[in-house]
Amino acid sequence: MTAMSMHEPTPADVAAAQRVLAWSLARLADREAVLPPAAATTLPGLSGRGIGIEAAIELLLGVVLPTAVPPDHPRYLAFIPGTPTVASAIADMALPAATVYGGSRLEAGLAADAEDAVIRWLADVAGFPDSAGGTFVSGGSIATLSALVAARGERYLTSSRQVIVAGASAHSSVAAAAHVMGCECLAAPPADDYGRLTRETLAVALDGRDADNVVAVVATAGATNNGAIDDLAGVADLCGDRGIWLHVDGAYGGAALLGSRARPLFTGIERADSFIVDPHKWLYAPFDCAAVLYRDAAAVRRALTQEADYLDWLAAEGGDNPSDLAIHLTRRIRGVPLWVSLQAYGWDAYAEAVDCCFAIAAYAAEQVSRRPHLELVLDPALTVLLVRRCGWGSADYDAWSAQALQRGLAFAIPTRHAGETVLRLCFVNPLTSRDDVDLVLDDLG
Ligand SMILES: Cc1ncc(COP(=O)(O)O)c(C=O)c1O
Repeated sequence: MTAMSMHEPTPADVAAAQRVLAWSLARLADREAVLPPAAATTLPGLSGRGIGIEAAIELLLGVVLPTAVPPDHPRYLAFIPGTPTVASAIADMALPAATVYGGSRLEAGLAADAEDAVIRWLADVAGFPDSAGGTFVSGGSIATLSALVAARGERYLTSSRQVIVAGASAHSSVAAAAHVMGCECLAAPPADDYGRLTRETLAVALDGRDADNVVAVVATAGATNNGAIDDLAGVADLCGDRGIWLHVDGAYGGAALLGSRARPLFTGIERADSFIVDPHKWLYAPFDCAAVLYRDAAAVRRALTQEADYLDWLAAEGGDNPSDLAIHLTRRIRGVPLWVSLQAYGWDAYAEAVDCCFAIAAYAAEQVSRRPHLELVLDPALTVLLVRRCGWGSADYDAWSAQALQRGLAFAIPTRHAGETVLRLCFVNPLTSRDDVDLVLDDLG
């Protein structure tokens, strides 16, 4: 193999590409078939001469990928599942070959406008003003880190703000961001069993603090562990009164803004300074795709734009680059598959899919309450259920989860609520059926 022939397609490459396409379409057509994952074997080592495209692709499709636990399986109910639409998965295939540099508008061309259109759609859904803007990053963690750095950066020269205040149910990425930024992460006292942040509990956390020392308040719109939405309106009131940046983490729950059931719970989100939602979770984009939106994008650009002699030219050519709105420079144009999917199906299909997930979560909750040995630990907020299997301790949950995966039944894992181990089931896959729910619940003995 010569250096040149790595970059020019041969007939063997064409055959490999056709094999990949056929495999990919078959994989998307049967999302059930991929559980349990295949047993892992030892991979052959890398070599100086290589094994050729056919053998390498065979290794990928036949040996490597089948060992992955598939987040789009209808009975993958752990963490937050991810189920890319067919259109978004197909669109994603084209991006590496097009080699779009997503950092600058000049280079990305209309691909940057396509991403902007999705950001504008999300801004409208959240009720953000015309001044809003944003970009796509790899995940909710980087999205929140970017927003918090922007929050501190805006008054960077005039303050030494060091505290990030969050609710008790905030995602671990908030504490991680605080750590990276060298800030204290202060948890407000929980207002209820869900650990919600309210105006009152935020006031307790802020009591006696100089608002100029607070980087931001983080409210959660869809807690990962239990689905709860903080009191966004009350928190927005207090942040407004004290001049504190409000960041809303809707990485999981933000998609519920599209559905008909939960919209009122989000009242107040339109007053946030920044907001994140992960399309790779409940908006059916391929990994990795998280959106970070800012109320005042121009101010954020001033805070986050990287400066270097060799970058000045891009800025002079108009600036306004996707790289200026997060902690990144080079980026893949990861918002485009979602744009293609929205073009293909329209946003009504997304709203319908979100409602579908609420319906299946409600069905699951009802089925839990009908089974004498199962109990709902909390009334479901959004689409996460916490289920107690009466008589089980944490070793029983662990053993059941491991076996359920091995048997190919489901991927559903325990969590803790108020110190107790319980089963957590997350419904964001519109392909999950009532039969899937029954299969899992019946298996709990
Ligand atoms: C509420 C919430 N915020 C942030 C994150 C982090 O997102 P990511 O895993 O994409 O970094 C998650 C992930 O589950 C989440 O549920």
